[in-house]
Amino acid sequence: MLEHLRFTGSALELLDQRLLPATERWVVCRTAEDVAHAITDMVVRGAPAIGVAAACGLALAAARGDDLERATEVLLASRPTAVNLRWAIERLRAVHRGAMADEARRIHDEDIAINQAIGDCGAALLPEGARVYHHCNTGTLATGGWGTALGIVRSAHRDGRLAHVWVGETRPYLQGARLTAYELLVERIPCTLIADSVAASLMAAGRVDAVLVGCDRVAANGDTANKIGTLGLAVLAAHYGVPFYVAMPLSTLDARCPTGAQIPIEERDAAEVRGHRDLVWAADVPVFNPAFDVTPAALITAWVTEAGLWQPSPDAT
Ligand code: MRU
Repeated sequence: MLEHLRFTGSALELLDQRLLPATERWVVCRTAEDVAHAITDMVVRGAPAIGVAAACGLALAAARGDDLERATEVLLASRPTAVNLRWAIERLRAVHRGAMADEARRIHDEDIAINQAIGDCGAALLPEGARVYHHCNTGTLATGGWGTALGIVRSAHRDGRLAHVWVGETRPYLQGARLTAYELLVERIPCTLIADSVAASLMAAGRVDAVLVGCDRVAANGDTANKIGTLGLAVLAAHYGVPFYVAMPLSTLDARCPTGAQIPIEERDAAEVRGHRDLVWAADVPVFNPAFDVTPAALITAWVTEAGLWQPSPDAT
């Protein structure tokens, strides 16, 4: 597994995901504010990884004797959609200051075990020789390690059940093209990168056996927020009869959020759509750049968790 997050107790070192795969650079965070900036700027991204980083950020504030209310506020404001951030902060706030560093390390270690359990559970759902479609990046880089939806891919590959991964590039930020493709190549898992717009014709041609995605927040009724483009894939999968699986650590379930309508959807900078890094192809045009969309529960075949398959309770509205 790639190493991407190192916590020493007095610093959090993050592999800068904005530059991957071309450049390996580490960003060193020494305060909760540093970590909050790293989360907002996408140095670290992916719901479980954001949770681990936020926990380390609060532990840094604790170790420095900083104001924990202020640190909590800054971290909670760093990205709005992934509920793992709030979950991790609440876990840390439940222990005393001196125990926070160990609690942050525990969250990281547990996340790897959770992902491996999700991977094993999800792999068992796939047919032999599965050709799966994967969206965004849900791998080691997006988690403590192993990955959620990409963890299913890893487990299926290890078990000899996987034939091929279609890697959706994931416009506009290209998490699929830059990060998922990189992780799969490193692990020698057979994959093909495609433009997002290829998904429909692949499904129409019967070349996808399952769609695997992660999630940033699942409402009590099962409505699921994930990377923009997930909803379109779910509609296609329903139309073509392709199973649509959401890999969901239980920390991503927001029982306090009744439906998808209450999930806050982050809007990001226009620059992400107008171009990429220094290359700008649409400088002045107005842009709408929601980072996530919400897939209604009815379009989801199953939510794969570390404790087995989850279904919303029928009385959740
Ligand atoms: O904006 P990002 O890159 O943080 O979005 C990531 C996703 O949408 C992932 O699918 C989700 O966080 C799950 S990662 C295991």
